[in-house]
Amino acid sequence: MTTKEFIIKELVKERGKYISGEILAKNLNISRAGISKAIKELKIEGYLIKAVPNKGYSLNFENNILSSEIILQHLKKTQDIYMYKTIDSTNKMAKLLNNEQTKHGTIIIANEQTEGRGRLGRSFYSPADTGLYMTVILKPNLTLENSLMLTIAAAVAVANTIKKFIEKKVEIKWVNDIYVEGKKVAGILTEAVSDFESGNIESIILGIGINLSTVTFPEDIKDIAGSLLAKDITIDKNIFVSTLINEIMDIIDNFNKVSIIENYRKYLNIIGKEITVLSIKGNRDALAMDIDEKGQLIIKNKDESIEILNYGEISIRKK
Ligand code: BTN
Repeated sequence: MTTKEFIIKELVKERGKYISGEILAKNLNISRAGISKAIKELKIEGYLIKAVPNKGYSLNFENNILSSEIILQHLKKTQDIYMYKTIDSTNKMAKLLNNEQTKHGTIIIANEQTEGRGRLGRSFYSPADTGLYMTVILKPNLTLENSLMLTIAAAVAVANTIKKFIEKKVEIKWVNDIYVEGKKVAGILTEAVSDFESGNIESIILGIGINLSTVTFPEDIKDIAGSLLAKDITIDKNIFVSTLINEIMDIIDNFNKVSIIENYRKYLNIIGKEITVLSIKGNRDALAMDIDEKGQLIIKNKDESIEILNYGEISIRKK
């Protein structure tokens, strides 16, 4: 553990209270000057550390920089966390990192992505500081059919988490876009890593992107995209992330198909509505009737035929 990591760990343990430089120096077996240099660097990185003569150092409760130390303190189970200031894509990194030794629940988080990926080959706008870009490597003991439902389970976990932090209505647009006040605030990209020979799914790369306080979006998504937080409202990012990770791991480790679908249905905003199905074969209008026990969408076409859509190459638009 580096000096800075040690200091953060100690400050988090005693959050709100003061720890003297002398104690930190003694515990780390380095000079007071070494502590003061590390504190200076931590402040430059964005940690809100107060220094008061004769009292010592204290970490502000409103600290809003992503920190694996703080996240770990709030996780129900210890998980490996890889944290990046800037990265091309956390999903891409997850696939590079993932091997037989990688633990179920390994997390990759970034403060910014330069090549954030979305579904259907799209990109995901991932500016610095105002969003959360996270990938969880899952190695669940599930059948192929149940593994396919992890995207739905993750959408429920994201919606549940958002609901804990803001008082607005949270909706899911089939399959896994999260909407607040008519704007898409979060998206999920699930990728499966399978064993080439057996065809078994070895890992699921679950990528989640959430716009926390992004205000300006690129031209092509500015009418669709939105953020969770209104101007001047903040949440503790680390608490948000740890709550989200706890929700995801809870739902996945206690996998219960019926309850996942039940909760998912509560958030769905298209049941009983006219939709446009966008597919490679062309767009068509239909009525969204319900979802089945696997989360597939049951639609009625204009010619009254009933069709079941799975989560493949199809997108829908609410009319
Ligand atoms: C979508 O809405 O199309 C899915 C967006 C998924 C974005 C997340 S951000 C973290 C992870 N890394 C990526 O490159 N993509 C996912």
